[in-house]
Amino acid sequence: MNENFKLDIPKRPRRLRKSASILSLSQENFLNPADFILPVFVIDGRNRTQNVPSMPGVQRLSIDKLLRKCDSLLKKGIAAIAPFPSVDMRLKTPDAAEALNEKSLTNRTIREVKKRFPEMAVIADIALDPYTTHGHDGLLDESGREILNDETVEVLCGMALGAASAGADFVAPSAAMDGRTSAIREALDECGFTKTAIMGYSAKYASCFYSPFRDAVGSSKSAGTPTLDKRSYQINCANSREGLKEALLDEDEGADVLMVKPAGFYLDIIASLRPLTNLPIAAYQVSGEYSMICAAAKLGWLDFEKAKYESLISIKRAGADMILSYFADSLEPNDYFRSQ
Ligand code: PBG
Repeated sequence: MNENFKLDIPKRPRRLRKSASILSLSQENFLNPADFILPVFVIDGRNRTQNVPSMPGVQRLSIDKLLRKCDSLLKKGIAAIAPFPSVDMRLKTPDAAEALNEKSLTNRTIREVKKRFPEMAVIADIALDPYTTHGHDGLLDESGREILNDETVEVLCGMALGAASAGADFVAPSAAMDGRTSAIREALDECGFTKTAIMGYSAKYASCFYSPFRDAVGSSKSAGTPTLDKRSYQINCANSREGLKEALLDEDEGADVLMVKPAGFYLDIIASLRPLTNLPIAAYQVSGEYSMICAAAKLGWLDFEKAKYESLISIKRAGADMILSYFADSLEPNDYFRSQ
């Protein structure tokens, strides 16, 4: 460096990055095991596990295996799960009748988990896709082209009642139908389930990043098409105001928690929603976000641990209070204190 060169700047932000201890003193956001909800895939039978090929490290589990997983999650401080059923093809129908069975795979799962681990919070998914032959979240009209709104909401209410009586702490209506939240709130209250909370899938975008999930629950296979088009009910990914409108509508309708989904590519929605509501915000880091990081790490193109951490801390930084993530299962104490 030229000896005459002098940079005369009083403000040097690097002072706060001088050492690991100073870095952590000024760190603004942290991961906390208590913020995480693990989505889990459930299958019928006993002592069964099945790998999900498009989601390395993720398995479908029979209920007994899931109970073992709950035990290990609780030991790690993770006290919330969101079960999704992978239902036998023979139980699927165009009208998703099995969704209303009080002994459906979902309802049995909720019941057994809550019986064995009352301290585990269970978030029950309320949508028809695991139970329909066509893989849509709602009922189809006779032409098979339109997803019926009000008829679907009626079934969702019945499903929510089933999950609430099985003991779910939250019902989470993920079928993006108009008026679902107020109808479900009313149905729950009428039947005395005033303590069952609603986690709204409030800003749910039509995303290609759901496809590994659809493999996991078998909803893409049932539709017979690789790309299930849900754009007539999920939000257009080009829109931000529309996501905020939906989220605020969900608050008005009585949701207790507002969710933004997916998370990583929708941080702007989380950050814009933060000052608009006093409700907790949940963010769902979806299957494709998970699988992308796993795939790049497998190829040696990304450091798995660092990419996992950065993807999650970004969601916290944007303003989410709780995160649904398939990584929740692989978080180690180290991850919570990491600063890079
Ligand atoms: C549908 C539902 C989806 C997910 C959760 N609930 C996908 C879809 O709309 O097909 C996706 C979650 C993920 O990708 O991890 N009710």
